[in-house]
Amino acid sequence: MKILIIGSGGREHALGWKINQSPKCEKLFFAPGNAGTSSIGTNLPIGVSNFEEIEKAVVDNKIDLVLVGPEVPLVEGIYDFFSTNEQLKKIPVVGPSKAGAELEGSKDFAKAFMAKYNIPTARYETFVAGEIDKAASFMKTLPSPYVLKADGLAAGKGVLIIDDYNEALAELNEMLEGKFGQASKKVVIEEFLSGIELSVFVITDGENYKILPEAKDYKRIGEGDTGLNTGGMGAVSPVPFADQSFMQKVEEQIIIPTIEGLKNEQIDYKGFIFFGLIKVNGNPMVIEYNVRMGDPETEAVMLRIKSDFVDLLEGVAMGNLNEKTIEFDEQNAVTVMLVSGGYPGDYEKGKEITGTENVKSSVVFHAGSKLENNKVMSDGGRVIAVSSYGKNMNEALALSYQNAQKINFEGKYFRKDIGFDL
Ligand code: AMP
Ligand code: GLY
Repeated sequence: MKILIIGSGGREHALGWKINQSPKCEKLFFAPGNAGTSSIGTNLPIGVSNFEEIEKAVVDNKIDLVLVGPEVPLVEGIYDFFSTNEQLKKIPVVGPSKAGAELEGSKDFAKAFMAKYNIPTARYETFVAGEIDKAASFMKTLPSPYVLKADGLAAGKGVLIIDDYNEALAELNEMLEGKFGQASKKVVIEEFLSGIELSVFVITDGENYKILPEAKDYKRIGEGDTGLNTGGMGAVSPVPFADQSFMQKVEEQIIIPTIEGLKNEQIDYKGFIFFGLIKVNGNPMVIEYNVRMGDPETEAVMLRIKSDFVDLLEGVAMGNLNEKTIEFDEQNAVTVMLVSGGYPGDYEKGKEITGTENVKSSVVFHAGSKLENNKVMSDGGRVIAVSSYGKNMNEALALSYQNAQKINFEGKYFRKDIGFDL
């Protein structure tokens, strides 16, 4: 099979690494990929939203299956672009339809979906411009802090948690006036939930599903989970508190109603569902849906899947995922993200990355890199993910930290406390 992966981050490199191990994978392409993916496949210089160029590449390279990494092309309707195009409609896209991608593309849609299907989540209401008074009275029914969410995609920046009532109202005003552009023309206000978070993933063909290894990510830049939010500074899998009884609740109360709800709404959904969960008083609640795999969770999760991943993707494409098996590696897997100095604020790109060839006992995934005159240069805030196996979490972390020292680029920073809270 010739497979095209859309995207350019550590998630896509990790998906490609796993896919490349399958005897069913004949040739692997990335659009656009990064310096790391060019060592396992062919990078095509095409942006993730350039559907016309993607169409041309799929036809020219006789691609048999397309796997979509990031949410943006999904929310923009890449699945529907394929399914309604004469040339492309026989080529399966792993990723939901535009309607399904609304689970991530619109917080209001996701919340209404959860309400309709009795999926546990925070109490909420949605507001648009001119509804400040209504919002103010709703907020009076909530204890502080107040959680304000831009309805649309805001590159991970659209969620604000504010202690002070008046400050929250002022912020709401700014959001509705376009602080996050079109994305915050609608704002979801919800109850703050207190607990420990984790990421649960399923792959589904729309009828059947398989649960992938769960993970916990570390979103803040600073140690002890302090400072600004980032795309993710590291991840661990498994998550000790996600024991059998907890995961059973997740499956019964969240996963099954979500799959059944999508079916009931007649939403075409063949891809990943990422449940951003929080454990509150022993019970799982949904913080958010994502319609893709997590990043950096994928850089740990892929290490824990023993089964042939292409076989699973075929199951999604053919609608016979129920006939496939998924086997987990019992080892622990972790990933530690090396980021550019200054990230998530202003940072410089174009720093030469050296030493990755000296890493033998971890797997190196490129998150933000590009080749320039045969040199590997940093090309993003998150630069390299160092993933490792271990008999336990600490053993895996020790390997990642040891190998993180071998990789160098100017301004390199990483958190040294991944897994600290477990
Ligand atoms: P989201 O973009 O929805 O993932 O939100 C970003 C982060 O904000 C989440 O990972 C949580 O840490 C936090 N968050 C979002 N909603 C809530 C909530 N209702 N209660 C507590 N924390 C929340
Ligand atoms: N690691 C969280 C995300 O991918 O959104």
